[in-house]
Amino acid sequence: MKCLSFLGLSLFLIFSAQAEETGDRRIFATAPYLQNPVDNGVTVSWVTRVPVYGWVEYGEDPQQLKKVHTLVDGQVICNDFIHKIRLEPLIPGKTYYYRVCSREILSYKAYSKEFGHTAVTEIREFRLPSPEESDFTALIFNDIHKKHELLDALFEQVKEYPYDLVFFNGDCIDDPADQEQAVRSIAYYNRKVGADRIPVFYLRGNHEIRNAYSIGLRELFDYVGDKTYGAFNWGDTRFVMLDCGEDKPDDHPVYYGLNDFAQLRLDQAGFLKREFASKAFKKSAKKVLIHHIPIYRSSLPDADDDRFNPCKELWGDLLSRAPFQVALNGHTHRFAHIPAGTDSNPFPVVVGGGNSLERATVMVLQRQGKQMTLRVLNTGGEELLKLDL
Ligand SMILES: [Fe+2]
Ligand SMILES: [Fe+2]
Repeated sequence: MKCLSFLGLSLFLIFSAQAEETGDRRIFATAPYLQNPVDNGVTVSWVTRVPVYGWVEYGEDPQQLKKVHTLVDGQVICNDFIHKIRLEPLIPGKTYYYRVCSREILSYKAYSKEFGHTAVTEIREFRLPSPEESDFTALIFNDIHKKHELLDALFEQVKEYPYDLVFFNGDCIDDPADQEQAVRSIAYYNRKVGADRIPVFYLRGNHEIRNAYSIGLRELFDYVGDKTYGAFNWGDTRFVMLDCGEDKPDDHPVYYGLNDFAQLRLDQAGFLKREFASKAFKKSAKKVLIHHIPIYRSSLPDADDDRFNPCKELWGDLLSRAPFQVALNGHTHRFAHIPAGTDSNPFPVVVGGGNSLERATVMVLQRQGKQMTLRVLNTGGEELLKLDL
């Protein structure tokens, strides 16, 4: 009899667990992913397959999590598929635990609401660095072009690094046709790099600007300063991220008059002036520039591409006096190291390869005390470059 009850209980638990899992899977389209880890806060984002009321439970003690949801004009933001909840203020250096909850909304009417299953993720942890911290490891991927096998092969080479943040430096969610397609790639990338505990930065490449869902992509991201360019500190290292826009002039017929990247580049000239004059930039121990399209590129094999280079015209003067240790780029699909001074570049420029297993690379940027090192690896694990910066 005892045996039977035990069996009954086990079956009940198995079926309950399965039902729970099925219910949760039906609701969550992505795992939560961490973005915009600046100003003592972080944004938890996730996507659901059904409209939900979403909230995050977080805190320093996994047994005592507090609930946070987002309000706008006195109302809780809900009944939607894409969710972003800001956790702040956080204390840098402390480990935080969180989980995401999504309660299905079956009907949302004036005087009645109907709710379904509440899906809950497992508890995850994360930590933001304190301002004086120096050490970190960052992984930088570029030009994955939705070929998930490229990320698989590259990640295999770097997964042993104890990395703290991850950049996708453009052309990773290329030509997004619709939300479902974009979410599929983002969910895959996030899962691969563990974005539920490691903050991710999605920089825009020229291919993120193309196709029907290119404008919609913004819904899935939480940009630093709400712009596709910006700057932030990770410990005492400053990262400056730029958006070069499209690779052809705004008046090219394929854009049908719907682009104005001339203005966006001009805005960034203003941003760079303010950034270089800022205390945060001046005080930082190391400075890293990161953007998709290389600005300094006349020595590259496809130098023809140098004909349209408005970023260099607009930002070249400002950058020539900027004390960056390195610039990290992509776009050409061929790995290149352009030592300082080669193409009038005031700092070394490293261009990641991409788009095929033969050419794709991943960068590992590491700080250890005063040292900063950049490694570039290919899909076979071969180290193509090691720079001390
Ligand atoms: Fe590309
Ligand atoms: Fe590109």
